[in-house]
Amino acid sequence: MSDFLSMYSIQYWLESCPQGYLMNTEFGHAPGEKEPDLLLANELLRTETIRTTVQLVMGERCALAASSGLINAAPDEASKRFLATQTLDEARHVEVFTQRLYDLGVKKPDLEDTLQQYANPNLVKFAEILLEKVDKKDFVAGVVGQNVILEGMAFSVFEMMQSLSRELNPKFANTLAGTIADERRHVGFGENRIGSLIREHPEKKPEIERMQRDMSYYMLATFADSFRNNPMQAEMDRIEAASGGARHATYQGVDLAQMAPEEMEKVLADTVLKEFKIRLGRIGIEYQTPRRP
Ligand SMILES: [Fe+2]
Ligand SMILES: [Fe+2]
Repeated sequence: MSDFLSMYSIQYWLESCPQGYLMNTEFGHAPGEKEPDLLLANELLRTETIRTTVQLVMGERCALAASSGLINAAPDEASKRFLATQTLDEARHVEVFTQRLYDLGVKKPDLEDTLQQYANPNLVKFAEILLEKVDKKDFVAGVVGQNVILEGMAFSVFEMMQSLSRELNPKFANTLAGTIADERRHVGFGENRIGSLIREHPEKKPEIERMQRDMSYYMLATFADSFRNNPMQAEMDRIEAASGGARHATYQGVDLAQMAPEEMEKVLADTVLKEFKIRLGRIGIEYQTPRRP
């Protein structure tokens, strides 16, 4: 428990996060960094980037509601304090991705309408399954849903987006770097805290396994909607051909820039599901294979 206390204390959080990798950042990136002109001037790319960023805001709003809601359900003081730091992390994520929508040209009074217009219905269902557990103050299921499933997904999605942005959009890649570091801490907490609780409450396993399978299905459906029939990749290929330069984006040992969207979808889905299996195995939950949309 002493390791647990120091790794997940507010003191550790202060030193590593606000006084560490977030020092001298502005909305998560270096001051003065901007979205690339190429993106802002191309209506198709701008619209699709707004659509993608809306999913990030929706996911982070869910994470904020879940981590704050779980504070009062937590059985011990150390977990409550960790979740308080996580609550601030998630609020920051909501803020930096919302700020990105403004940077992409969304007007402040139009924010909620933009979120409603572009939010993926499958991602909304994914969030509802988790928030139902949180509303019932079900700490064990809530932490598995939030810190293993939602954040395992977020972590892999952010890493993929970061590798796609590194060359073309350093501002966004830098914003993602801080959120990835945060999510790594959150995922670690889920694994470390929840294993012993599941051993104490083996009767909760079937319900948690069902939640994992359902959330995984809606996650895959969200990926399918995002990659299939997405005009962004073709537009990027057209721009690349016109400029004569070749992009590269290494992720999980492959070059995403040279892949078709369906291949990228498969790499992402396989990466996330493999992670789920490993992490759930460590906390004693049997991974359930979801239907494929
Ligand atoms: Fe987050
Ligand atoms: Fe998180």
